[in-house]
Amino acid sequence: MLDLLYPDLSVGENGHLYFASFDTVALAREFGTPAMFIDEDRVRAHCREYVCAMKKYLPAGSMPMFASKALSFKEIYRVVGSEGMGTDIVSPGELYTAAAAGFDLKNAVFHGNNKTDADIVYAVNSGIGYFAADNAEELYAVNSAAARAGVRQKILLRVTPGIDPHTHKKISTGGVDSKFGAAISTGDAEKLASLALSLGNIELCGFHCHIGSQIFEVTPFIDAVDIMTSFIARVKQEFGYSAHILNLGGGFGVRYVKDDPSVSVTDNIRQIASALYDDCRDKGIDPPEVMLEPGRSIVADAGITLYTVGSVKEIPGVKNYVSVDGGMTDNPRYTLYQSAYTVVNASAAADRADLECTLCGRCCESGDILQEKVLIPRPSRGDIIAVLTTGAYNYSMASNYNRIPRPPVVMLSGSNARVAVRRETYEDLVRCDL
Ligand code: LLP
Repeated sequence: MLDLLYPDLSVGENGHLYFASFDTVALAREFGTPAMFIDEDRVRAHCREYVCAMKKYLPAGSMPMFASKALSFKEIYRVVGSEGMGTDIVSPGELYTAAAAGFDLKNAVFHGNNKTDADIVYAVNSGIGYFAADNAEELYAVNSAAARAGVRQKILLRVTPGIDPHTHKKISTGGVDSKFGAAISTGDAEKLASLALSLGNIELCGFHCHIGSQIFEVTPFIDAVDIMTSFIARVKQEFGYSAHILNLGGGFGVRYVKDDPSVSVTDNIRQIASALYDDCRDKGIDPPEVMLEPGRSIVADAGITLYTVGSVKEIPGVKNYVSVDGGMTDNPRYTLYQSAYTVVNASAAADRADLECTLCGRCCESGDILQEKVLIPRPSRGDIIAVLTTGAYNYSMASNYNRIPRPPVVMLSGSNARVAVRRETYEDLVRCDL
C-alpha cells in the first residue's frame, strides 16, 4: 500500500503524483529532469513551528538558527530569514551565499572545526553574529582578527557533552572521540572557557553542543540539557562567569519511510524547556536563552526529486534495475549512508506495485544507487519517478562527478512555481577550466 508520508503529497484522478498541489508529471515536463522541488509553504510552516514553540516555552530571546548545510542557496536564506529564523553556516561559501541573499548576519553562527585565518577575517569583517569556536587555535585567531577590526567578537564555545544519540544513553567517553569541540569529561572544555574569558577581543556568550542528526527521541536532548547546565554551573562556580546562551544544535528526525515515526517539534521543545527550567533551578543558574539549529526538520520533507526513467532491465533470478537520469550526483545519501527513501512511480502512482527493483543513477559507477528493494508499478522509458523527502542534504551534497550538471531547485508556493537555482549548463562545467 502506497504511503505518501506527508499531507502535501496525493494521487490525482489521472493517476499522477501531486506535490504541493502540482501535478509532478507536468512539473517534470515544464522544468525537465532531474529536478528538485521545494514546497516553500511547508518550509515556512516548519520555521513557524520552531519560532512559535521556542517563543512560547523557552526563555525570551531564544531563537532557531536554520542549519544551512542542509540546503544552501540564496532564496532559502530569504525564506527562513523572513520567518524570523537565524542561520548556522559552516563555511565562507555559505556565509557568502547568506550575505548575497541579504541575510542579517547578526543572526548567524559560524561553525567548523578548522576555520582558516582567511575565513575568520572574512567572517569578523562581515559582522557575523557568533563564532561557534572549536579550539584554542581558533580562539587566538578570532581574538587577533577582532582586535585588528577594532571589535569585540561574540562567540559560543563548542563542547562535546558525551552523548550517544543512537543508544539514547549517556556515555562517559562518547564525546571524547570527535573532531568537533572540547570534551567536558576531559576538562578540556573548562580550559577552553578559561582561555576565552582571558582574551580581550572575545566576548564569550555561552556554549554549544550538537549531539547528532535524525534523532527520533527527545531523551538525548534532555540528557544534553542536563550535562550542559551542569557545565554552565561549574563554569559559573569556577570563573564567576554566567553563560547567557545555550545552543543545543540540531538533530530532530524526519520520516523518510512509512516505518519512521513522526517527531513533534513543538512537543520536543516543550520537554526540552521543562528540563531546562528544572535543571537551572536545581543547579542555581539563570535559564539561558536557547538556540536550536534545525536543518533536516526544516527542509527534508518539503523536498522531492523527479527523474525520468531511461531503462528497465530484468536479470532473471537476480534482480531488476530501473535507471533514471540522475543519481548519486544529486543524491549521494544511499551511496554514503544506505539511507532509506520512499520511491513513487509518479506517472502511475495508483497502479499496483508489481516490480521490485534497484533504482539506479546514470553515473559510470556500480555503487550509483538511489535505493534498493523498491516496490513500484512497473515503469517504462519516459515515466517520471519521484524520490520523496529529498529537501535536506541532497542539493547541498550534490556533485559534478562524471561532469553531470547539477539539477535546478524549483520553489513551489500556492499556485506559483519559480526556479530558485537554475540547472547547470555544460558551460558552467568548464567555467573554472583554463
Ligand atoms: N548544527 C550542527 C553543529 C551540525 O553539525 C548539524 C548537522 C546541524 C546543526 C543540523 O542537524 P539536522 O537538524 O539537520 O539534523 N549529511 C548527513 C547529515 C550531516 C549532519 C551534520 N551536522 C546526512 O545526509 O544525513
